[in-house]
Amino acid sequence: MTRWYYGWQMVLVSFVVMIFLTNPVTSQPQTNLLIRSCSTNNATDIQKFIGNLNETFRDVRTKLLNNNTYFTTSNQTRNSEPVYVLAQCRNYMSTGDCVSCFDFADRSIRFCAAANGARVVLDGCFLRYETSSFFNQTTLPGNVGLCGNRTSSRQTIFEMAVDGLLSNLTVAAPKINGFYAAVTSQAVGTNTSTAYAIAQCAETITTDGCKNCLQVAHANIKSCATDVTDGRAVDSGCFMRYSASAFFANNQTTDITPFLRDEGVSSNRGSSNKGPIIGGLVGGVGFLIILIVALLLWFRRSKRTTPEGSLHGVTELQGPKDYSFNDLKKATKGFQEDNKLGEGGFGDVYKGIVKDGNTVAVKRLALCSDIAKANFESEVRIISNVHHRNLIRLLGCCNKGPELLLVLEYMANGCLEKFLYG
Ligand SMILES: *[C@@H]1O[C@H](CO)[C@@H](O)[C@H](O)[C@H]1NC(C)=O
Ligand SMILES: *[C@@H]1O[C@H](CO)[C@@H](O)[C@H](O)[C@H]1NC(C)=O
Ligand SMILES: *[C@@H]1O[C@H](CO)[C@@H](O)[C@H](O)[C@H]1NC(C)=O
Ligand SMILES: *[C@@H]1O[C@H](CO)[C@@H](O)[C@H](O)[C@H]1NC(C)=O
Ligand SMILES: *[C@@H]1O[C@H](CO)[C@@H](O)[C@H](O)[C@H]1NC(C)=O
Ligand SMILES: *[C@@H]1O[C@H](CO)[C@@H](O)[C@H](O)[C@H]1NC(C)=O
Ligand SMILES: *[C@@H]1O[C@H](CO)[C@@H](O)[C@H](O)[C@H]1NC(C)=O
Ligand SMILES: *[C@@H]1O[C@H](CO)[C@@H](O)[C@H](O)[C@H]1NC(C)=O
Ligand SMILES: *[C@@H]1O[C@H](CO)[C@@H](O)[C@H](O)[C@H]1NC(C)=O
Repeated sequence: MTRWYYGWQMVLVSFVVMIFLTNPVTSQPQTNLLIRSCSTNNATDIQKFIGNLNETFRDVRTKLLNNNTYFTTSNQTRNSEPVYVLAQCRNYMSTGDCVSCFDFADRSIRFCAAANGARVVLDGCFLRYETSSFFNQTTLPGNVGLCGNRTSSRQTIFEMAVDGLLSNLTVAAPKINGFYAAVTSQAVGTNTSTAYAIAQCAETITTDGCKNCLQVAHANIKSCATDVTDGRAVDSGCFMRYSASAFFANNQTTDITPFLRDEGVSSNRGSSNKGPIIGGLVGGVGFLIILIVALLLWFRRSKRTTPEGSLHGVTELQGPKDYSFNDLKKATKGFQEDNKLGEGGFGDVYKGIVKDGNTVAVKRLALCSDIAKANFESEVRIISNVHHRNLIRLLGCCNKGPELLLVLEYMANGCLEKFLYG
């Protein structure tokens, strides 16, 4: 089912890329479908539920149309069938295009009605409804990068510009009011071309939540091949996209330089004054990093000597546990297809029963390279930095064997959609 789902997605994305390559129009509802799925919630009175749903949709539409806003939420909780709706347009869309995109999204998830929850991500907008509030969700398993086709022209030089652009967006967008930024960059090579990119978060999450989400999105886009000229990353709380074709107008960019200043992002500050100063800086920073890493390692080791209890109900104080590759292989019956729960951003997720009898979810990272290792570390760091109760908890990892594996809390009675999308 998931295989079909993602295969289908890729076909759509390829189609989208094709349209963009041949028809670079900037002002349109941009209703290219990226992801669509239903969540199975528990509404008992479907008529009541749909009544509430219609009402919240009307409310959202009115706000998008009349309040000159790109982001809005609405909820109807007066009876036993609550409905929560979130809608967001990319800020480069005109009000008319935004509403058209919303209407398209509305039509395309009506078939989910009996499932009481749905989400649809289009290039131009995002729409989701559930029976409980999800407005503060940031990054969740199921986050995914959608890569366009590979091309042999405009390769690595373009990619280098894109990576810098996306790094800058990841730093700047969370600091900007409205959590949105659109930027362009000239890739100067044999042929000069322009890269276009945007980053956007839901306005109901925190600055840190936006940052975490965009870091995951950036990593997901980075897992695309380097010669792809069109990439997108989709998550619960954010969206990121780059393209070699213009999908917003040149006068719709954001000046993000003020938001990059006090970060360690490579800037042109030192370019006129190279040599000893940079050497000193790099040396100092390097020393600090080594010191911090050493402290962390020491801290972790001293913690590990305390006896570990059952993994379920672990306290916040325990760090991630090291699992051995063979134990995890055994736990998932050799990564059997039957045990597969779904496919996440970096690889497949399997259900497994570890030695102590607890059920866990094991995420098997798709690539085994330096890039994957870097992703692995960032994922471990991001997940273990997030302490919200309703996010899946990272229990441990395994990076000693032939593959990189993450061990996550298993969501009992969670169906696939729930696991993937919270
Ligand atoms: C992208 O790849 C798919 C399948 O590999 C192919 O059918 C499609 O024509 C390609 N699109 C473009 C724009 O090359
Ligand atoms: C759905 O309802 C059943 C029985 O009413 C309950 O056991 C289950 O936990 C509910 N699931 C959710 C997701 O609320
Ligand atoms: C909700 O809206 C749909 C489509 O707009 C309509 O077909 C349906 O009759 C409405 N249902 C209720 C209960 O208002
Ligand atoms: C939308 O606009 C109306 C009328 O201008 C105003 O009363 C309402 O408070 C606005 N709603 C939001 C969410 O800004
Ligand atoms: C639901 O809507 C009410 C008013 O319309 C608002 O005060 C409340 O904060 C909303 N709840 C959530 C979870 O957004
Ligand atoms: C530069 O553009 C020309 C024609 O548009 C193309 O044939 C050539 O492959 C391009 N070179 C690179 C490095 O992209
Ligand atoms: C941006 O450019 C378009 C034409 O490309 C023009 O119609 C529009 O008014 C410009 N917007 C601003 C804010 O300058
Ligand atoms: C990222 O920001 C830095 C600092 O402002 C700037 O020097 C660099 O050119 C930016 N990178 C891209 C690709 O725009
Ligand atoms: C989101 O809000 C719910 C209640 O509305 C709360 O229980 C939960 O802890 C919040 N999660 C995050 C990630 O802030």
